[in-house]
Amino acid sequence: MTSARIIVDRDFTVGPVPRRLFGSFVEHMGRCVYTGIFEPGHPTADENGYRGDVLDLTREMGVSIVRYPGGNFVSGYRWEDGIGPVEDRPRRLDGAWHTVETNAFGLHEFAGWAKKAGVEIMEAINLGTRGVEEARALVEYANHPGGTYWSDLRVKNGAKDPFGIKVWNLGNELDGPWQIGHKTADEYGRLAQESAKAMKLVDPSIEVVAVGSSGRHMPTFGEWEHTVLSHAYDEVDYVSLHAYYQELDGDVASFLAASNDMDYFIEEVISTVDAVKAKRKSTKNVNLSFDEWNVWYQRGLETEDQPHVVEKAGVWREHPRLIEDTYNVTDAVVVGSFLNSLLRHGDRVTIANQAQLVNVIAPIRSEQGGPAWRQTIFWPFARMAELASGQILRTAQTGDRFDSTQYGDAPVVDASTTYDEERGRVAVFLANRGLDEAADVTVTLRGLAAGEVTRAEALTVPEGGDRFTANTEQAQDAVGLTRLDGVGVDEHGDLKVTLPALSWAVVELAVTKA
Ligand code: AHR
Repeated sequence: MTSARIIVDRDFTVGPVPRRLFGSFVEHMGRCVYTGIFEPGHPTADENGYRGDVLDLTREMGVSIVRYPGGNFVSGYRWEDGIGPVEDRPRRLDGAWHTVETNAFGLHEFAGWAKKAGVEIMEAINLGTRGVEEARALVEYANHPGGTYWSDLRVKNGAKDPFGIKVWNLGNELDGPWQIGHKTADEYGRLAQESAKAMKLVDPSIEVVAVGSSGRHMPTFGEWEHTVLSHAYDEVDYVSLHAYYQELDGDVASFLAASNDMDYFIEEVISTVDAVKAKRKSTKNVNLSFDEWNVWYQRGLETEDQPHVVEKAGVWREHPRLIEDTYNVTDAVVVGSFLNSLLRHGDRVTIANQAQLVNVIAPIRSEQGGPAWRQTIFWPFARMAELASGQILRTAQTGDRFDSTQYGDAPVVDASTTYDEERGRVAVFLANRGLDEAADVTVTLRGLAAGEVTRAEALTVPEGGDRFTANTEQAQDAVGLTRLDGVGVDEHGDLKVTLPALSWAVVELAVTKA
């Protein structure tokens, strides 16, 4: 048995829980849109073709904001192709994913879906092949009430009320050589600055996200953010971060410690952003939008049917299966620790989007004409989105640690905590990264008196399974949350939890001020 002691204090807060931390991502890629959220004729589809089963799961997951329409896709996309009568919309080649885009689904369809799902839209503009003119036209189309060319066209196309989109991505991963319209930091920094300026002249209430690095491993990381912000600091509100992780070559310790890398990445971007702020003697803060993060098995799982390297596809297909990763227990524990990392940095990371929502490296899977189900990674997201509220508390921690070759040593138990004064509750989110040992956790609450434990649930290896057990079409509920027994408050008022080996857990506790 390993052990961990976690200390939180009512007054030591990080900041309020940003609701936009529970974001997701819908890209025109693989089967995320087509046969994912949109499948006319599906038994659960409504009159618009939105799949009811996927909508239900999206709402259950507690998603707050959804980034759209890409991703790499957006860097070659013409948004005008996706508006107006569907029968007049052009079929186009999408070079990013080597597929044919029918444009049967576009901005109006997405706005209608977002309304039904109860999520905010985060719209990405194309700064790969396009520029300032198309960007400001799109803001006018989406957000201007009427009486101008683009806003009247929106009304003509059936949307009398503006979509009122607040958050805009200024392109996608333009630091990456794979990106259509890849740019140097200077080229992109100027373009981002001028696009943001023009977009805000149309609607000053919008918030814009500059493209940061596609990963901490990028050779230009650090320099890219510094240069881009040296141009665009005054015009932008956020800089983006993207990161994907996987278990490689059986090195499970490094995979389990990967949230260390997320922590470093976030802290390095904060330092870079703030260095530009200091140099400019600015009083304005630029926050972080971690708008792509997840586990993604980029290496080792390619099949003829699911090419991970798009060039291998050979033929141009409509919505083929792409990167439909199946997630297991280990992945869910790692995703739980990523959510902890994001929440612990919630004063500066105020937007985050798990990539993606359905089918494509996603917490929700669906089959054409068939069912939709929850992957293992659905659960930590759903519970944290439901129970993290009020203030994020700083978590001080002592206890057992483990070593990893890639990311150094890390605490066996990873934690984050929130305190909601209004509701009188504390929520503790815990990941036990010990593969074989249960963990004995003590949470000391300062300034708070613990009452009843109102919820205690864990996701772990199911009976008869192992750490690779996953939910599949045939066994949709093989892995889920189960009640965690033996959770209580001891004679000192400390919360005591025993976590099963390799598990993710949440404990909700009624509290009063002490
Ligand atoms: O989410 C899949 C892809 O990963 C996105 O299109 C791209 O932005 C990233 O490289």
